[in-house]
Amino acid sequence: MKTEWPIPAWFDERVRDPETGSALEQRADGYHRSDGRRYAIRDGIPSLVFPETLGGQDGDWNRFYDAFAPFYNLMQVVLSPFMLGETAASAHRKVAANLPLAPGSRLLEVSPGPGTFHRFLRERLGPQGVLVSLDLSFQMLQQCRKRGDPAAVLVHGNGQHLPFKDGAFDALFHFGGVNLFNDPNRALAEFVRVVRPGGIVSWGDEGFSPDYPDGRMKRMLTRMNPGYLKPRPPVPAGLRDVVTEAVYGGTGYLVVGRKC
Ligand SMILES: C[S@@+](CC[C@H](N)C(=O)[O-])C[C@H]1O[C@@H](n2cnc3c(N)ncnc32)[C@H](O)[C@@H]1O
Repeated sequence: MKTEWPIPAWFDERVRDPETGSALEQRADGYHRSDGRRYAIRDGIPSLVFPETLGGQDGDWNRFYDAFAPFYNLMQVVLSPFMLGETAASAHRKVAANLPLAPGSRLLEVSPGPGTFHRFLRERLGPQGVLVSLDLSFQMLQQCRKRGDPAAVLVHGNGQHLPFKDGAFDALFHFGGVNLFNDPNRALAEFVRVVRPGGIVSWGDEGFSPDYPDGRMKRMLTRMNPGYLKPRPPVPAGLRDVVTEAVYGGTGYLVVGRKC
């Protein structure tokens, strides 16, 4: 199928069925499974998930983010100075600066939203780097296409069932979905699986650092989003040199490790 956003050949070499782990055959109308089912390509975006099968919180959040996608970026720009004490761009650049990404790396970003980190990830990866961004919300991916890195390959999928072979990427970055996933432990295990040995695995979300002051701001943020108080999932097996940093003025955390 001819699209304005062609899917590169290396992508097809790395993709696999997110449900069974089996090989997929790419044809003009999508990615075919051996049982006859097909994952479609919509607007040049491989849709490697069947959204109608999502259960629990995944289905609810997917509907929420599809509806909220056109407003998400504006909300961040308006609220960041107040909630984080700095502009959204400054906060996002600092997070990306914490990632030990080598220029030219092949990076999978899970849950890009509207492309929040794209500009800063591209700065780190350089023009030769490869950025693949996978989100469960198709509407968020449409926003990514409008506002994000024009060279990014966008994928519709579920972070807990990644449609990629083991070791397919040099690095993985995720921010903002850990508190939402039905099964965060499964997502983190998937993050480790798709990175090559020696590669970088990094994730984070909202969550107060221990020295964040108790007070009005903390109470207000928690009322707006109870996710701030969610227990963090344990670091998955298979990582070494793991470091956790406070980000977003102590209202968020970022974990960075290297795959064994
Ligand atoms: C709070 S937003 C974070 C967006 C962006 N990373 C940021 O920090 O601004 C959460 C994102 O996670 C996505 N998401 C939720 N559940 C997901 C899942 N199971 N797999 C992949 N993405 C998911 C949502 O669609 C949304 O884009």
